[in-house]
Amino acid sequence: MDIFQKCRDFDDADIARASGYYPYFQVIESESDATVLIDGRELIMLGSNNYLGLTTHPHVRERAREALEKWGPSCTGSRLLNGNFSIHEELERRLAAFVGKEAVLVFSTGFQTNLGTISAIVGRHDHVVIDKDDHASIYDGCKLSYGKVSRFEHNNVEGLRKTLASLDTNDHAGILVVVDGVFSMEGDIAPLPEMIAVCKEFGARLMVDDAHASGVLGPHGEGTSAHFGVTEDVDLIMGTFSKSFASLGGFIAGDANVIDFIKHNSRPFIFSAAMAPASVGACLGALDVMETEPQHRERLWEITRRMQKGYRDLGFDLGTSDTPVIPIILGDEMLVFAFWKRLLEEGIFVNPVRPPAVPAGRSLLRTSYMASHSDEQMDCVLETFERIGKELGVIS
Ligand SMILES: Cc1ncc(COP(=O)(O)O)c(C=O)c1O
Repeated sequence: MDIFQKCRDFDDADIARASGYYPYFQVIESESDATVLIDGRELIMLGSNNYLGLTTHPHVRERAREALEKWGPSCTGSRLLNGNFSIHEELERRLAAFVGKEAVLVFSTGFQTNLGTISAIVGRHDHVVIDKDDHASIYDGCKLSYGKVSRFEHNNVEGLRKTLASLDTNDHAGILVVVDGVFSMEGDIAPLPEMIAVCKEFGARLMVDDAHASGVLGPHGEGTSAHFGVTEDVDLIMGTFSKSFASLGGFIAGDANVIDFIKHNSRPFIFSAAMAPASVGACLGALDVMETEPQHRERLWEITRRMQKGYRDLGFDLGTSDTPVIPIILGDEMLVFAFWKRLLEEGIFVNPVRPPAVPAGRSLLRTSYMASHSDEQMDCVLETFERIGKELGVIS
């Protein structure tokens, strides 16, 4: 059988395109900002993770430009051998101080950070325990490790306890629990203090993916652990640069000896080229801004609270979202696509989300907010959601 037969048989995307309900790979003709151009039309962007709006911040862009000029467009190799530039180490020192951990290692993407950290830490005799709704990169990091993988019900501390109690452990088996700090589709926060207590009971280590929490949660945007005041008790903090940092890459933060181990044992880190200089420069610029301009985070939360109240007052189901990721949970997949299409026609860009990205029966419109959205744009969004929600019978 030809290994490409499945490709010839694959017609899901063609069917969706022909039906006019294909939402993926939209061609954006402008930079990532509060509005974007698609097909020459300006749309309000509610589908990005540019939470602090830093893609357009002059200082972030200037630092990216400077790094490009000084260090060139590529490091042309792995950190281990020939791509370890002093700006990588500068960024690692700055981030360690920012999140409150001894050491940091930066990777070229957030996805790679999860792959490289989990596969390095979880060995053949170990266990890795994850929340069912964890990000795909955590699932794939588990697959890449040789450990035994167990899952527990989403954000369910009792479920975590039962799972840990059921593990067949011995003196050679360690346990790593991995959760998202903020869940990427529904915007809810992991109950870290309760999870830490359970992990301690079973001698398990805890890793928190802060992709959607860095720059957003915590007194200065340090993330979920700082939000709860439990940074000491979270063993590994992971973050991405592709969201609030307005760049590309990822980091893992923890005790110096753990980070040094990952540095020397993580295949996705060792056998891949170093983070590009311009991306490092943008991150350094974003850190400067996060440390000195709290107004962006404050504005983000002002918009978030306003939109959460606005949608709830209209009668939409937002689940337990408590962050700038606000899902409009519609349940039915076809309804989600119909709503998405009407929003696009009315000039609003959102992401329709269906299983397996969310559990069956929980299809939703993922909306997310940024500090650079204006009040007028948000008025327009609420007015449009109300109109289409009534038109499609979602609200009365
Ligand atoms: C929770 C979570 N972890 C990891 C990643 C991967 O990060 P990146 O896109 O920066 O590779 C994402 C990105 O979507 C994410 O949402």
